[in-house]
Amino acid sequence: MEIFRVNGGARLVGDVYVSGAKNSSLKLMAVALLATGKTVIRSVPDIVDVTIMSELLRRLGCEVEYDANTEIVTITVPESITHRADYDLVRRMRASIAVLGPLIARTGEADVALPGGDNIGSRGLDMHIAGLERMGCSVTSEHGYLVVHAPAGGLVGTHVYLDFPSVGATETLLMAGVLANGTTVIDNAAREPEIVDICTMLVEMGAHIDGIGSSMLTVTGVDVLHPVDHTTVPDRIVAGTWAVAAAITQGEIAIHNARVNNLSLVLEKITAAGAQVTEIADGISISMDRRPTAVDIVTLPYPGFPTDLQPQFIAMNAIAEGSALVTENLFEARFRFVQELSRLGAEVRTDGHHALVRGRTKLSSAPVESTDIRAGAGLVLAALVADGETTVHGIEHIDRGYVKFEEQLRRLGADITRDVIADLV
Ligand code: UD1
Repeated sequence: MEIFRVNGGARLVGDVYVSGAKNSSLKLMAVALLATGKTVIRSVPDIVDVTIMSELLRRLGCEVEYDANTEIVTITVPESITHRADYDLVRRMRASIAVLGPLIARTGEADVALPGGDNIGSRGLDMHIAGLERMGCSVTSEHGYLVVHAPAGGLVGTHVYLDFPSVGATETLLMAGVLANGTTVIDNAAREPEIVDICTMLVEMGAHIDGIGSSMLTVTGVDVLHPVDHTTVPDRIVAGTWAVAAAITQGEIAIHNARVNNLSLVLEKITAAGAQVTEIADGISISMDRRPTAVDIVTLPYPGFPTDLQPQFIAMNAIAEGSALVTENLFEARFRFVQELSRLGAEVRTDGHHALVRGRTKLSSAPVESTDIRAGAGLVLAALVADGETTVHGIEHIDRGYVKFEEQLRRLGADITRDVIADLV
């Protein structure tokens, strides 16, 4: 079992380079299924989820090569692909559900195991299912698999109104709609930069999509899409995590390959906390010369504040001047990590989907456990400002979202190592 050992106290200074977004890359790999031939996707982060998605695509009949040095994935899709995504892979990564839309669009059927992934709430699929049903599909759940059949004449374009701008449901319906008969309107669609990235790649492939970046996507089906060479949008959540790392340690970090436009609200909150934010040629520089001021956060679908940066901001608020109210609207179990943060001496009270954080002048080291990717990042950030040595367990979660996190932190001056310890089971 691997753990991080973090000795708090260092001020982080230096440069970091942000890879392509995990939440985009994995979906772009699924998008490749929509076209026969060789697709190239660049700036794909070297994380285990990419390995899982590669294996999933191989099982569907594709050839997949990933080069960690160049961060390029090459996917060769045959004329005919299979339609079953097995439980052993899907349970390890919720993003596997991204193959649902392409499989239905390409083969007219899909057997996709019900997903696992982060342990951060119920994460239903009802909107994916309702949308596909409106496009004429029959959907049943059999032995832990979602079994979907398109109508004999193919998917039928329709108007779908999502109850909530779900990222996953928007993606499934987009990928189903691009090869459907007629026009599919996705109303109340998610507008995340990763959705824009998927739309951009689909358009490059020959899809017709109007309203990209808005909450109404109009997709007119085409007969065939062709493979392309596409570069993934930078990871705004990783960039945001580095911004908090600079602020919490009162350091100065130049974050390269970051898009200011995709981080507007996050940078506003970092500025409100007292940091200086400067645009640089290919990103942003964040510097902080005092203890942060506590900032209120309300997580909402984009362009609201991202839930995936909520734990990192709670960590910053935990050592800030003043108190902050944090409201989580996306995932009900996301406050689970607060218990772990409290082990470091943080003063956080939760009530339903609200958390009241009272800033302390210091945190004190303790063993803690990550429960999901972002909780893990939040705990490491807190450990950076805790007295003494904190051991962070469950770091396999962190590795799912951050490329060589501890190496990058060390280069910035952090005292952090990855150790293997015996697992007492
Ligand atoms: C994606 C991201 C995740 C991010 C989230 C919100 C990936 C791999 N993950 O997750 O990091 O935190 O967007 O920005 O890209 N819901 C339903 N029924 C549905 C679909 C969703 O009830 O049919 C609920 C979920 O349970 C959850 C909320 O809606 O509470 C948000 O889900 P969604 O926006 O779909 O997020 P994901 O695609 O799962």
